[in-house]
Amino acid sequence: MHTFAYQNGTLHCEGVNLADIATAVGTPTFVYSKKAIMDDLTELQSALAPLDAHVAYAVKACSNKAILHLMAERGVGFDIVSGGELWRIINAGGDPALCTYAGVGKTEAEIRYALEQGIYCFNCESENELREINRIAGDMGLKAPVAVRVNPNVDAHTHKYITTGTNENKFGVDITRIEALYATIAADMPHLHIKGLQMHIGSQLTEVAPFIMAIEKVAPIAKKFKDLYGIEFWSIGGGIGIVYDGCLASGRPEWWAAHPEQITIQSYADAIIPLLQPLGLKILVEPGRRLVGNAAVMLTTCLYEKKGEAKTFKMIDAGMNDIIRPALYEGYHEIWPVIEHNGDTITADIVGPICESGDFQAQNRQIADVKPGEILAEMSAGAYGFSMASTYNSRPLAAEVLVDGDTWSIIRRRQTMEQIVQDELLPE
Ligand code: LLP
Repeated sequence: MHTFAYQNGTLHCEGVNLADIATAVGTPTFVYSKKAIMDDLTELQSALAPLDAHVAYAVKACSNKAILHLMAERGVGFDIVSGGELWRIINAGGDPALCTYAGVGKTEAEIRYALEQGIYCFNCESENELREINRIAGDMGLKAPVAVRVNPNVDAHTHKYITTGTNENKFGVDITRIEALYATIAADMPHLHIKGLQMHIGSQLTEVAPFIMAIEKVAPIAKKFKDLYGIEFWSIGGGIGIVYDGCLASGRPEWWAAHPEQITIQSYADAIIPLLQPLGLKILVEPGRRLVGNAAVMLTTCLYEKKGEAKTFKMIDAGMNDIIRPALYEGYHEIWPVIEHNGDTITADIVGPICESGDFQAQNRQIADVKPGEILAEMSAGAYGFSMASTYNSRPLAAEVLVDGDTWSIIRRRQTMEQIVQDELLPE
């Protein structure tokens, strides 16, 4: 998180004091650093320059229009998983012709919409989905561009809910069946154009070994498909992990020297380039978390403190509806006071206002002994933070702010109760 640091005792994002944003906008508020996103995108694009590589940003990680617009301005493509995400891309000024459309449950309406908009390719997950796209494309008098997601059966060593590339997962087509399936498409589905091959083994991978293993397993198949069907691309998916535990310290080079095992954009690129270069294919990468995860914090206010027999609780004004990662994936997010403390720490649970015991942001955490009224920053909040938020307990969605140098703008106004209930009706 190199664009977040304490300056004169206050946590800043680039040149902006986070306390000023909390005062002006209130909490909870997500604050994104434009520089963090742009720097990481530049680093990824230049590290992969030896390949014919194209970034397809995984929109699900953070789909705010302003963030998508930044990516679109840089000419980045998009990995989408719904008609809604495609609509967002177009609305943000992105190019549908740079969109790959993944997901196991595309509806007819979504498939038609994507075909009308002229997306780059469907990344398909089953034979029945391919048959459905073939039928719809035929109906529309088109040939639909398709790739199939191959499931290489490689363990990504990540949380079980975000592991996707083993036989136990619903995703993709088993590596043992993929060649027969491509032959069936070529023989039986005249309204499909076989354009590529796709895989994605999981998210938040902190080591390069599983990527290497998956690429080594699938590369011979990609080569075969290039020869047989003239595929033009292989999408190797997303999944590059970020630093959660240690994120603030990782803004300094010394941290990286002490953690040589942690994946970096460069170590990822160094590992995969030699395996991919000989194929002569266009390579798509679908990073989500790596581009936005460490580019944001969520500001929240400490409301109360409660000391019990077993634990001390610090209640905050953000809940699992704002960031669900700790509740759902045992996700770890550092929490720092915006006004720096001088060594007074306490072990506490940081909990939200939702009526669920699973509503915590941190458990048994050694943190600064913050008092009611103080502002906290929950770190590494940019990926799967706001994009997974809900209005559970009738809590309006948080505001979002984008910092650029010394200036900042609201990129999403805080939701109102009127907006929450606007589509609810009494029966006639
Ligand atoms: N490509 C495909 C086909 C995917 O399914 C995903 C993520 C990505 C790319 C982007 O993966 P990334 O680079 O962000 O790791 N909500 C969970 C993560 C879910 C990931 C879903 N798929 C979390 O908060 O950890």
